Amino acid sequence: MKRTILALDVYDFKKAQDLVEKTSHYIDLYKVGPILFLQSGREIIKMLKDNGKEIFLDLKFHDIPATVKRSVESARDLGVFSLTVHSIGGEEMLKSASSVENRPKIWAVTVLTSQITTAEEVLRRAKLTKSCGIDGVIASPLEIPIIKKGCGSNFDVVTPGIRPVRIEDDQKRVATPESAVKAGADFIVIGRPIIESPNPAEAAKNIYEAVEKL
Ligand code: C5P
Repeated sequence: MKRTILALDVYDFKKAQDLVEKTSHYIDLYKVGPILFLQSGREIIKMLKDNGKEIFLDLKFHDIPATVKRSVESARDLGVFSLTVHSIGGEEMLKSASSVENRPKIWAVTVLTSQITTAEEVLRRAKLTKSCGIDGVIASPLEIPIIKKGCGSNFDVVTPGIRPVRIEDDQKRVATPESAVKAGADFIVIGRPIIESPNPAEAAKNIYEAVEKL
């Protein structure tokens, strides 16, 4: 599977469909978050599957253990490849999520990449999630080496905060696609630099060429 995950952070189904058509050659896994899921839920899942794509459902579950467990079961029944829970939900919640049979991959959010934190705090949360049976974490590119060292190379690290060129926005802990992959990211998540580009196909192609050859 290709390493770049495209975040379909758009309101409109048709816009999402257009982005999938334009970037299909370079992307296997598309991230569907609340913005699009609340607008066109099952329709967007079906469209991606009809195009032979996998889905990363990024709804960041953070609730009581029983509710999170049932949410993971519902996501499994939708047939998604991966989903997110929030590490601050705590040990019992994380264990409930990971106990679901035949479940998608679960990645836990450590600290949002729009927030300032320390690598030690991210590592502390990563170790907690690993001990609860979670498959990997969402972290900033800057924390990849410490997580891989502390949690092992089989523990997935998925990194948003990817900026081919620095732009002033809400992301604070950022890196280029190449440096994130060189540091060991299993997947990089990228949204606005592609979806807001005047030429999304070319933006996706440039990132694909930069990271898939590494
Ligand atoms: O547009 P941009 O490239 O910043 O998109 C990054 C995506 O990754 C957004 O959809 C955002 O919700 C998501 N994300 C993040 N930081 C996390 C977890 C998810 O930026 N810790």
